[in-house]
Amino acid sequence: MSDGFVPPTFPQDRLGELRAVAAAVPGGSIDTSVGTPVDPVPEVALEALRAAAPGSAGYPPSIGTPALREAASGWMERRFGVRVPPEAVAACVGTKEAVASIPRLLSLRDPSRDTVLYPAVSYPTYEMGAVLAGLRAVPVPVDSRWRLDVTQVSADDADRALVVWLNEPANPTGASTPAGQLAALVDWAHAHGAIVASDECYAEFTYDASGAPAPPVTALAGGSERVLAVHSLSKRSNLAGLRVGFAAGDPELVGYLAEVRRHAGMIVPTPVQAAATAVLDDDVHVDEQRERYRRRRAAALAALEGFGLVHDGGTSTFYLWLRDADDASDGWAVGSRLAEHGLVVAPGELYGPAGIDHVRLSLTVTDDELTLALGRLASAPV
Ligand SMILES: Cc1ncc(COP(=O)(O)O)c(C=O)c1O
Repeated sequence: MSDGFVPPTFPQDRLGELRAVAAAVPGGSIDTSVGTPVDPVPEVALEALRAAAPGSAGYPPSIGTPALREAASGWMERRFGVRVPPEAVAACVGTKEAVASIPRLLSLRDPSRDTVLYPAVSYPTYEMGAVLAGLRAVPVPVDSRWRLDVTQVSADDADRALVVWLNEPANPTGASTPAGQLAALVDWAHAHGAIVASDECYAEFTYDASGAPAPPVTALAGGSERVLAVHSLSKRSNLAGLRVGFAAGDPELVGYLAEVRRHAGMIVPTPVQAAATAVLDDDVHVDEQRERYRRRRAAALAALEGFGLVHDGGTSTFYLWLRDADDASDGWAVGSRLAEHGLVVAPGELYGPAGIDHVRLSLTVTDDELTLALGRLASAPV
């Protein structure tokens, strides 16, 4: 490949050495570095896929079938108590592509703004969406609880912002923002003329400090004008392999994005739209999954503390955000120490320089794998 065609390095591709060390441990490695679900695909999804497959001869609507948009609207009303009409919902092919492309599509509409703001410790695709759009990527500092601290954004960056990304609750820290504070962030972005894009893909895995389910919050709570909420079925319903999500909110914005995406041929396959509709109408499988992650979180926290790590992230999502209890090592060194016991985690620097002292552990491993990993740590000298 010539020098002109070197792509950016994919974050998890930096883990080669940690993975090799962990793989050499007798019994093999347990890799928690990627948040890829491992639990069962819900039966309702499988039934819907089977039933819809014969009807796949023609093109499905890019914006989503009426049934899917209705189901998404119904779910948002049920879970968040917000009324988003089906007309203000549009499907996407998993939310990563939406996150990566929204800044570009919005910049076509408003070339006067050249900046994307996103949390300084966050999912790397917010930054990549700015890069792909040729826009300035400006991280917003986070406070000691990993919540956005917009007081530290310069007036120039704020006034040039095309879009402000929120992630509620947040990857990789598990932090959640109280509803009032979230509303204040939306107001702040609007006061500077920016559009709010709120990635809420972990909303179903919101817990309080005791591990009890807590009501999720949405950036749409105060109204939909200039707000987009982005939702994924990958995590909620273990459907990452089917690639489906949706954006909902400001009808004008959603309509614009849907129409441009239609030109680009961004379409969720027919059986996948049917499966997404079915899972959005069902909460039982989500309750089961929420409980699985709660159990794994409790078990992992106890063992990791015994290994000399502290969790100082929030109580939500299925990620643990850990650092060395003595603050003696950074996230890469903690990662190396865990790899020697067969456990692969993601060093926090993958989520921005401000994450350097931490590692992220994803609870997307089976119960058996987690038991094996934690057992190894328990028998390791601290
Ligand atoms: C914060 C966040 N947003 C979006 C995504 C993308 O999920 P998907 O493309 O599977 O919908 C992920 C995946 O890990 C994520 O962590």
